[in-house]
Amino acid sequence: MKVSIIGAGSVGATTAFSLAKSNLVDELVIVDLDERRAQGVALDILHGLSLTQEVKISSGDYDSTVDSNVIIVTIGVPEKVGESRLVPLQKNADILKDIVPKITKASPNGILLLVSNPVDILAYFAQQISGWDPSRVIGLGTTLDSARLNYLLARDLDVAQTDINGMIVGEHGDSQVVAWSQTAVKGTNIKDFLTANNIDIADNYFTDIAQEVKDTAFDVWEMKGPNCYCVALAIERVVKAISQNENAILPVSQPFTSKEYISLPHVINKNGAVKPIELGYSNEELAKLNDSYSGLVELANQIQL
Ligand code: 2OP
Repeated sequence: MKVSIIGAGSVGATTAFSLAKSNLVDELVIVDLDERRAQGVALDILHGLSLTQEVKISSGDYDSTVDSNVIIVTIGVPEKVGESRLVPLQKNADILKDIVPKITKASPNGILLLVSNPVDILAYFAQQISGWDPSRVIGLGTTLDSARLNYLLARDLDVAQTDINGMIVGEHGDSQVVAWSQTAVKGTNIKDFLTANNIDIADNYFTDIAQEVKDTAFDVWEMKGPNCYCVALAIERVVKAISQNENAILPVSQPFTSKEYISLPHVINKNGAVKPIELGYSNEELAKLNDSYSGLVELANQIQL
């Protein structure tokens, strides 16, 4: 399993560290415009491998990513407070126009995993530029937000995070939708779980938690700079589904009704995101999902590809 990471910023570097320790990959290649930085990240991890496990790690250019099984794109221009979302979006689309052909030429059979934001739109653009089947161009999407939801519910219910099955769909961003109808504790829907266990919640609990999922990501950013650990673990989870041919169901960004991308649960295995999984969303959730999608399409349509 060869994985290439494009971008050696905090997300790329943390992902490299996390994958190096994951037992999932044989070879990691780190690529960055700043070649010394990529080299430094690779070397920093290499220095510790005698203490953990053997993995081949190097830095290099796009040629060194040849025949990667997974290529993870973490580079991009971030949004600035007060600036239109269109400005960084156009810049990121331009970056993709430059790098995606280099990636696809080097690894024609690989799987592209987009992480840079706005991830749903950028994953869609990467698919359009690559011409690859969408199953092989995946956006990390709301796998990350769903993990944050698991954390918040586990905190409040005093149970293990791994026993919560939180499901957030839609945009990885402001218009995301918590699918409470599909959020469960050990298989029991959250609302039934609360009733069965006589747990009283505040009137606005569900609305407040949905907001907290978004706010908590922003809080981390304010406290310590860019979020990277949770992101790297979400990436590792998707890489695991691919490398172990798991058929795991994860909410990732893929075409919605065969068109542009949005996050919905998909089966992920060695061939990528191979099929969407239909869940019984409530009508309210479906309406919010459609709104979320319309907003993304409107934004994406303003960009010159
Ligand atoms: C996150 O949710 C910023 O997309 C990044 O942590």
